[in-house]
Formats: sequence, structure tokens, C-alpha cells
Amino acid sequence: MQNEYRQRRERLMEKIGHGTAIFHSAPMAIMHNDVEYTFRQDSDFFYLTGFDEPEAVAVLAPHHEEHRYVLFVRSKDWEQEVWTGYRLGVEAAKDVLGADVVYPIAELDEKLPQYLEKADRLYYRFGRNQAFDDKILHHWQRLLATYNKRGTGPIAIEDPRFILGALRQVKSEAELDLTRQAIAIAAEAHIQAMQQARPGRYEYEIQAGLEHYFRSKGAMGPAYPSIVASGPNACILHYVANTRQMQDRDLLLIDAGCAYGYYNSDITRTFPINGRFTAEQKALYELVLAAQKAAIAEVKPNNSYDQMHKTAVRVLTEGLVELGLLTGSLDQLIEEEKYKPFYMHRTGHWLGLDVHDAGIYRQGDTWQTFQPGYITTVEPGLYIGPETQPAEGQPDIPEHWRGIGIRIEDDVLVTTTGHEVLSAAVPKEVKDLEH
Ligand code: GLY
Ligand code: MN
Ligand code: MN
Repeated sequence: MQNEYRQRRERLMEKIGHGTAIFHSAPMAIMHNDVEYTFRQDSDFFYLTGFDEPEAVAVLAPHHEEHRYVLFVRSKDWEQEVWTGYRLGVEAAKDVLGADVVYPIAELDEKLPQYLEKADRLYYRFGRNQAFDDKILHHWQRLLATYNKRGTGPIAIEDPRFILGALRQVKSEAELDLTRQAIAIAAEAHIQAMQQARPGRYEYEIQAGLEHYFRSKGAMGPAYPSIVASGPNACILHYVANTRQMQDRDLLLIDAGCAYGYYNSDITRTFPINGRFTAEQKALYELVLAAQKAAIAEVKPNNSYDQMHKTAVRVLTEGLVELGLLTGSLDQLIEEEKYKPFYMHRTGHWLGLDVHDAGIYRQGDTWQTFQPGYITTVEPGLYIGPETQPAEGQPDIPEHWRGIGIRIEDDVLVTTTGHEVLSAAVPKEVKDLEH
């Protein structure tokens, strides 16, 4: 892997030319009082270094004669390590992480200026750590104040997220392997959950089964708070309480994925807890499934990212008209977004080191196009909650449609010829969900 991290840094350095980029590790997050959450490295920092310790800074200075890749890390300190865990340390970091030079983090203020003073631009992402932001601003201002005498220095600060986002979007073989593992584990967990669900059990029991399975297969844990939403709870997009007792004739919506080696899966399935869809559930389910398949078909190289959403919206709106839940001309209903009370979110997002991964979706009016190596989720749904109100001028919602929430979400890789549904192992056909 070290070779791959090096290649990533080289690609970034090619883009920043005469600039210097600074990346900070994620902060330790406090859970309560002085108890900390499990540390999770910042995705950009991890992408470039593969290093998973806090209190670290990576500097990329492609123009520097000696040190193009500089790391600041925590020094070995056995008394501290007894409490907070093993540290790689300054000596070992050079070999293990391939840096040109490694300093103790305590020397940051003293050593950093030499890597900034010849740069024409500074690349740094503000807004994640106030204290560190202030430190960077302080260094920058000192350099600006002495620019007249020195004649060099960064005259601007640019956010590196756009350059990095474009790199992170194209997954390497190694990244794909980890993603496939994250998806395989989550897929098995979903299949197990389908077998465990039955009327009378609680949503949290299903959540526990999913998350037990994740960890038991070596995943880091859930990729995001698992959503186990039965009956009307499925109409709440980010329902994570998972406290309800499941009832006969409920659908169960499970949106759950895991992180494996820092890469994420994100899968949703909706199925009848008692093994039989009601007529209304089935009608809506088949509609969402049709929309999802049509949207997946739009995932291919050079197709606009927006096209899958447009296609999903068209199929859903057409179906809602057939079911009598919308009325009017199809084009006008779409134009006026009359479907929105039932389908209020977009159809997907990039997936990778972050669940909602780096990478832009549009630039001005131009949508990003799919390219080989991108991974997107495809996740249309329909939600008719107890309180859902029809759009203006649309028919009242008959009671028998209420309390049904459905989403179907797959993780889809763009290939050179089209796509591959990476999460295809989890059943979604009606015949496979009924028993
Ligand atoms: N579970 C988060 C998402 O689907 O985006
Ligand atoms: Mn998603
Ligand atoms: Mn999801």
C-alpha cells in the first residue's frame, strides 16, 4: 500500500505545482466528559498518508529541494502510551510512512515556515479545527508581512478539496477491494436481518444483529447510524431510534452499511416482516424497484450524474399517477415537482472513504458525468407517512396508502462499459422477499 499512498501524493503534488499543502489529522472527539470516541482518521489525511494516529500533520511541498513530503507526528512516550495506546513515533514513521523527513508534532511551529516561505500558494481546508485554523492563519500572516523583504510566499490560500475530490472519486484496485469487502459484509448482514425479522421483535434487536455481524467480520463498525425502521417509521428518512416493536403487516426498511479498512458500504432494503406484501405495499414497492432499476441503467461512462435522478423521478411520478396518488400531465407534474411530498431526496451520492464521498456533483449548470472507477449509490424511495400532505392541487391521500415507506439502495461501480451493482447479493425482487 505504501506505493499507492505515494502515487496519490505525487498526483496531488503535480496539481499544486509551486504550492504547499497542509493536512491535519482528525481531532480526538469527546463522547462525554473526558471519555473519547474511538478515533477515526480524517479521510483526506488518510487518503494521502495511510496513517491513523491523531495529532499529526502532513505537508506536501513539491518545490522544496530536500523535503517534498514532511510529517509531524506524536513522539514516543511510554507513560502516555500506557493510557492512550501505541504510537508509531518519529523514528519509525520515516520508514513506515515514506516521508522525506519526520518531526515531533511539538516542533510544528518552528519547522513549518521553511516549507511555506517559497510556496506561491497555500492549500488548506478551514473549518474543521478552530485552534489549528488559527495556527495556519498566524503562519500565513507572518509570511505575508515579510513578503516585501523576502520576495516569496503564499499570496493565497486555496481549499484542496476540489483537487483531492477529483482524485478520490476514481477508485484504485486496492480501494475497490476494500469497498467490495465492506459491501460483502453488509450484504450478508442484511440477508441475516431479513431472516431474523418477525412480528413482535424490536427494531433494536435487528440493529444489534447487523452491527454484531459487521464487527464479527472485521469491519470497523457501522458506516453511519443504522436505520431499522418498521411501519410508519420508514417514512422518517433518518430514523435511528430503532425502538419500536415490529407489527404484523409492517414493512421493515433497513438502511445499514459498514466501514471496512476505512471504505464504506451503504445499502437499503425494504421487505414485509411477515413475508407477504399487502396490495398497497406491493404496488409501491414494485414502483420503487422499477425506478431504481431504471436509474441504475443510467449509470454508465459519460452519462450525466443527474440523469439517474431524472429517470427515477419520471418512473415514480408516472407510477403515482397510475395509482391515483397524483393527477395531471406527466411533464407538468415533474416540472412542478408534485412528487416531492412522496419523494423528497435525491437519488444517490458518491461513496468511498466517506459515506457521502468527496467529489462535486455539478459545476454551474453542468452536471458531473460518470467515469470508470466512480462509485455511486442509487437509492430512490417513496414515503407516505401518517402526516404526508399532497402537493397543491393534488388529490387527498386515501388512508390505506399511509404508513408505507420504501427505499431501495445499491452501491454501483461505473465500469468502462457500463456499471456493476456491487451490492447485488442482497435480494430485492418481490418473489425473493416473500415467503
Ligand atoms: N445512509 C445514508 C445514506 O443513504 O445516504
Ligand atoms: Mn446512501
Ligand atoms: Mn443509505
